[in-house]
Amino acid sequence: MDFTLTEEQQMIRQAARDFANIELLPGVIERDENQKFPKELIQKMGALGFLGMMVDPKYGGSGLDTISYVLAMEELSKIDASASVIVSVNNSLVCWGLETYGTEEQKEKYLTRLATGELLGAFCLSEPEAGSDATSQKTTALDKGDHYVLNGTKNWITNGGAADVYMVIAQTDIDKGHRGINALIVEKGADGFEIGPKENKLGIRGSDTHSLIFNDVKVPKENRLGENGFGFKFAMKTLAGGRIGIAAQALGIAAGAYELAKKYSLERKAFGTEIANHQAIAFKLADMHTQIDAARQLVYKSAWDKDNDHDYALSGAMAKLYASQVAMETTVEAVQIYGGNGYVKEYHVERLMRDAKITQIYEGTSEIQKIVISRSILDN
Ligand code: CAA
Repeated sequence: MDFTLTEEQQMIRQAARDFANIELLPGVIERDENQKFPKELIQKMGALGFLGMMVDPKYGGSGLDTISYVLAMEELSKIDASASVIVSVNNSLVCWGLETYGTEEQKEKYLTRLATGELLGAFCLSEPEAGSDATSQKTTALDKGDHYVLNGTKNWITNGGAADVYMVIAQTDIDKGHRGINALIVEKGADGFEIGPKENKLGIRGSDTHSLIFNDVKVPKENRLGENGFGFKFAMKTLAGGRIGIAAQALGIAAGAYELAKKYSLERKAFGTEIANHQAIAFKLADMHTQIDAARQLVYKSAWDKDNDHDYALSGAMAKLYASQVAMETTVEAVQIYGGNGYVKEYHVERLMRDAKITQIYEGTSEIQKIVISRSILDN
């Protein structure tokens, strides 16, 4: 088995690491504190190719593989998980969904601008009463001949206020259940499309999360993604890849906290020596390092599956399940290693601990990943 990264993959990782340290790090505490969306930084990332990493260059993307994408996600997430979720949604959900299932016209109109960061995308599946139970869509997209009429509310939408283009999942034919669901492209500013208040979140506070309200919004038929009734499968297939991105985000949060805790324990002295010399700390670091390496291998494996046209719904779910658990455990341990300093904002680890929690919730909770995994291994 060859775990060697190509020169190009190493360059991408270094570029993401440099961007994270030079551009994201300086204002990360302030953005978290003030819930400030990193608009200019996202534009810079677009210019560097981080918003359409896997998109074909003919549509303005970087044409990279999924391994490169997870390497970048890990590095960005070590420093700023708010920035990395914006990158993840635009890449894995919006651009991938459009490139894979969009028409040529949709790609020309939207993908070319989403891949460069000129436009930002949002993926709108969750509803007040349809979070984990995603087939129970209450938002309706009624067929009116040459257009749909969209009504309903979406919740917890990442990039909800900042996006320009929204992929909205809605029920067209209730009698057909999940086979009556469609995915529609909706533009910001459409008549009847209202952006609800921003959520005041525990973590990833620099990201922009809103509810969205649709009141008789007219969406042209040419904005439907895939065949009539393909919307639920579109969402599931898109989320299967999205989970790899979030697994990489969780891995980055864990690795970021570990790297800080290791550095701190080699500097901080207690009982006459650096705290790393006490087994109480050294053993924590050993556990963290081992868990992170195991998570990294699951993340790389799922990315490799995707790059090699293997099924990746199972490996992506396993990577997300495990990496998010490691993110949670590792960040808690990092705060413990920092002691009192870990509890104040300037040392970063408390933010990483708060950010870690969302990786066990969005793009399918840990329990949803276990449903996906158990169904796959039991083949039912
Ligand atoms: N690929 C293709 N098709 C799939 C699929 C996949 N990975 N997973 C399911 N399907 C298909 C099934 O084959 C089935 O189709 P058929 O009936 O034609 O065979 C159909 O979808 C329905 O599947 P299920 O019967 O398994 O549906 P279910 O009601 O039991 O639910 C579930 C399955 C896995 C629990 C699903 O509802 C789910 O993933 N829920 C979580 C939703 C989620 O992740 N939300 C995240 C919101 S997005 C977000 O967080 C983005 C962000 O802002 C960061």
